[in-house]
Amino acid sequence: MRYERLLAPVDGFVETVRKFAEADGLGLNVTIPFKVQAFALARERSQRAQAAGACNTLAWRGEHWFGDNTDGAGLVRDLTCNLGETIAGRTLLVLGAGGAARGIAGALLAERPLRLVIANRTHAKAIDLSAQFERGGPISAEPLASLSGQQFDIVVNATSLGLGTSVPAGLWPHRLFTPQALAYDLIYADQTTPFLHWARNEGAARTADGLGMLIEQAAESFYLWRGVRPDTDPVFRLLRAAGRD
Ligand code: ATR
Repeated sequence: MRYERLLAPVDGFVETVRKFAEADGLGLNVTIPFKVQAFALARERSQRAQAAGACNTLAWRGEHWFGDNTDGAGLVRDLTCNLGETIAGRTLLVLGAGGAARGIAGALLAERPLRLVIANRTHAKAIDLSAQFERGGPISAEPLASLSGQQFDIVVNATSLGLGTSVPAGLWPHRLFTPQALAYDLIYADQTTPFLHWARNEGAARTADGLGMLIEQAAESFYLWRGVRPDTDPVFRLLRAAGRD
């Protein structure tokens, strides 16, 4: 098999996928900004893709695309298997309520946290997201200001705050982290991300960027395509080493 990068023009996603299928392509990982278009393109969709409203994985099913979303599974696997975190019984905070947050909320709830709080600059979006997943477990939306005085074991940044900027002063309240807390950024970079920089200053004991999630979501996609779950350890080492070069 071959697994390669395919750069679609911003206005040419559907055409690129059509040509790929014509050339006997059987599966795709799809990244931003095409995940919602991939969802629209898929005629059959997994439940987790429906919950996310977006697909990061397409699998050719003979005559149509099956759409899945492995982002949440990738995050959970990175948290539990690679970082050794327990989610069950812990307090979780997700900052942001856009597409990235929607992609992970269901998978986090399935691990049975004590509670999962969604907090977003635009509170109404956090309320919508929380309502959408409320049957999955103890999820709630809280205004950012009301987080003051609360502490969380795992804090996930699911906002689209760019790499180039620093976290604006006062965006999030101080002292959100329990003494052993993990701060996890869904984005990844060779240098410390602005969120992780902020989290360290705020006293987070551990920090991780989203490289592990990137690897694990791809492994989960591979499992969908091939029925085999690859060993991700060597990939992790290779990418970290490449990032240092
Ligand atoms: P994505 O698919 O990456 O989640 P999105 O759906 O556009 O992208 O959502 C972006 C998220 O980042 C939102 O939660 C957004 O907050 P708002 O709903 O208030 O817009 C959040 N976000 C982006 N820039 C932000 C900033 N400068 N400060 C705080 N939150 C920000």
